Amino acid sequence: MRIIRAKDYDDMSRKAANIIAAQITMKPDCVLGLATGSTPIGTYKELVAAYENGDLDFSQITTVNLDEYKGITRENDQSYYYFMNDNLFSKVNIRKDYTFLPDGMEPDSKKACEEYDAIIEKVGGQDLQLLGLGHNGHIGFNEPAEVFKYGTHCVDLTESTILANQRFFASYDDVPKQAYTMGIKTIMQAKKILVVVSGKDKAAILKEVVEGPVTPNVQASVLQLHNDVIIVADEDALSLL
Ligand code: GLP
Repeated sequence: MRIIRAKDYDDMSRKAANIIAAQITMKPDCVLGLATGSTPIGTYKELVAAYENGDLDFSQITTVNLDEYKGITRENDQSYYYFMNDNLFSKVNIRKDYTFLPDGMEPDSKKACEEYDAIIEKVGGQDLQLLGLGHNGHIGFNEPAEVFKYGTHCVDLTESTILANQRFFASYDDVPKQAYTMGIKTIMQAKKILVVVSGKDKAAILKEVVEGPVTPNVQASVLQLHNDVIIVADEDALSLL
């Protein structure tokens, strides 16, 4: 694991965007695995700015997102589909039909997950996978568990994740309780993995991810076993390392 120290959130966002920009420049038709959450928003802003400056071209890029809430429409402003359009896809010259997320409106979990795995396989897997880090060490929506799940699957969100997401919804009852997420094998097959982490509230979990044992109780700890992981974290997030 390589750790790149950033001064603060903005610095983290610039550094992470530079790594993604280098990937796009070196392989203009690459497959990017993308993430949601508040942490990568600044990274997407930097990528949009680079596109507007004429430094980046998304016209041959394919994207696969980590996850999507189950039972939420694409028009819902809390869906990850909406998030990706809002933060990136509508602002760059990407081909919309080459951007993929799990189908949150497919009620048949088995079907939704098999279809998504087939898409990821068809596009050839991720050249670079961007990840945020949940407070309990989750990546995508791979919550703490007894095992690492391989492919895309339906998860029951933990209470702490539901509570963390509640701020984005009108009430607790409105927060989806399930999601479809790429599995750990799907994430680990990415050629390169880029993790963005910011804030004091992530310091304890980041320490466990980097220095603790590899365990499904802290799903992101599995990243220790990947041979090309870059963590870009700000000083607050690195304060316990
Ligand atoms: C959600 C997403 C994750 C994300 C996590 C952390 O649960 N499914 O992919 O990494 O939130 O979010 P934040 O960056 O807002 O702390």
